[in-house]
Amino acid sequence: MDAASLIQHLQLTPHPEGGYFRETYRSNDNTLNSDGDNRSQSTAIYFLLENQNKSHFHRIKSDELWFFHQGEPIEILYFENAVLHTIQLGNDFQVGQVAQAVIPAHVWFASRLLSGSGYGLVSCTVSPGFDFQDFELAKKQNLLLEFPEYPEIIEEMTLD
Ligand code: GUN
Repeated sequence: MDAASLIQHLQLTPHPEGGYFRETYRSNDNTLNSDGDNRSQSTAIYFLLENQNKSHFHRIKSDELWFFHQGEPIEILYFENAVLHTIQLGNDFQVGQVAQAVIPAHVWFASRLLSGSGYGLVSCTVSPGFDFQDFELAKKQNLLLEFPEYPEIIEEMTLD
């Protein structure tokens, strides 16, 4: 299947951070997030990036687990202790790709296709569950001030 057929088949819609997604699971049980707000215990999504799509730098309040399904490898970028880290999510283990990754809560992270063409399909789960109130898209100017050593990547991977 090509990306357009997959997006239709899986009923994905555009995500505000970039790419396409659909929530596939939301626990009926509740818990409190790190700020003491009531949240579902856990949620899962399909997430797809195609071609030059970017998931722009954003942060959430839960650790996020990523699982690679099919297509082209995805590069996840995140800042930890003011250093930019990258993970290659894919199934070519011999070149260092991993099929699972954990992005810690509260860090700024972004993703894109490693090759910039084709598509990559993954799942992402969070616990406590996702809520757009816990979701913050980065402002370019703020990230440039916080991480002055990475102007090119911040320029490319932020929305405004
Ligand atoms: N639900 C809606 N958006 C997201 C997201 O970016 N991550 C996760 N895990 N769930 C979501």
